[in-house]
Amino acid sequence: MGLLSRLSFSRDMGIDLGTANTLIYVSGKGIVLQEPSVVAIDQDSKTPLAVGEDAKKMLGRTPKNVIAVRPLRDGVIAEFEYAEQMLKYFIRRVHEGNTLVAPRVIIGIPSGVTAVERRAVMEAALQAGARDVRLIDEPIAAAIGAGLPVAEPTGNMIVDIGGGTTEVAVLSLQGTVLSESVRVAGDELNEAIILYMKKVHNLVIGEQTSEDIKIKMGSAYPMQDEDSLIMEVRGIHLLSGLPRTVTIKAPEVRESMMEPLSIIVDAVKRTLERTPPELAADIIDRGIMLAGGGALMRGLDALLSHETGIVTHIAADPLCCVVLGTGRALENYKELERVFNGRSHTL
Ligand SMILES: Nc1ncnc2c1ncn2[C@@H]1O[C@H](COP(=O)(O)OP(=O)(O)OP(=O)(O)O)[C@@H](O)[C@H]1O
Ligand SMILES: [Mg+2]
Repeated sequence: MGLLSRLSFSRDMGIDLGTANTLIYVSGKGIVLQEPSVVAIDQDSKTPLAVGEDAKKMLGRTPKNVIAVRPLRDGVIAEFEYAEQMLKYFIRRVHEGNTLVAPRVIIGIPSGVTAVERRAVMEAALQAGARDVRLIDEPIAAAIGAGLPVAEPTGNMIVDIGGGTTEVAVLSLQGTVLSESVRVAGDELNEAIILYMKKVHNLVIGEQTSEDIKIKMGSAYPMQDEDSLIMEVRGIHLLSGLPRTVTIKAPEVRESMMEPLSIIVDAVKRTLERTPPELAADIIDRGIMLAGGGALMRGLDALLSHETGIVTHIAADPLCCVVLGTGRALENYKELERVFNGRSHTL
């Protein structure tokens, strides 16, 4: 094998282009990038000022001539140009300035996206310098990444709760038997907390603060000694218009998220109801697997077990399941051929 082809092999990538986070896996190396899906754009020059973590810090804090945006919403590309710039930046960074080699790229996309949205993702990757782009359904990638035996003739249920979408799927023999995607996930939980703080505490808070509350105090099911868990929240008092600090308790945070949580639970129940009997029996035996950042919500496994009567497991590294799945698909290209969605685009 010549030096060039070896190099090109080592630069092949698996990408999870998520609403909240983008992750890149490089063949033979593992996960090399994990950054928030955010870009800050200088309005005058129209160029990215910051990307990823640095740009996320700017959300809600930018001066007039700078905008910080999340180009993906609800699991799909909402702002194509910014998504493309972000992807280009990340791919280039992984390339480490090596522009000689155009990589083969596998990207996880939500199973519910339209053909137009699918093409937009492919186009962005090709524009970003990829040579050959393949798409893989996110639930399958997540299941592979969570270590489920997707190639076997056994039913497996995966629930991937991300920032924008929750995807519930029953898989068997490398394929999706049935799936459901709801556009309610981590972002909606943040929104629910923002609304609650406004309504009950007359406090206006931003998305970063609400995410902070959710991660530090949020729960989906009553926890032991939760009454002692309190947090000081800073925001703008609705009536006086002045900054103010309010103290909140863990149970009220759970209460504020009940509506979006029940939408997620209902999606799982609906999918179970539609599952053919043999596969349902497998799922009862094997349990439900949770992936995505939302799987880290305290007590969500307990809530789902309680509501469905089926044991619920949390993947070992929920935030990395999809990208690990794309990586394994990349490294087992031939064996997992059937999981690839549609034709590839080659330059
Ligand atoms: N410890 C935690 N508890 C609760 N939620 C969490 C925790 N850590 C991260 N999250 C939430 O997980 C979400 C991000 O998850 P993830 O990175 O899987 O989403 P994504 O893949 O970018 O989104 P999507 O799959 O919808 O495109 C965010 O809403 C974040 O607030
Ligand atoms: Mg995701």
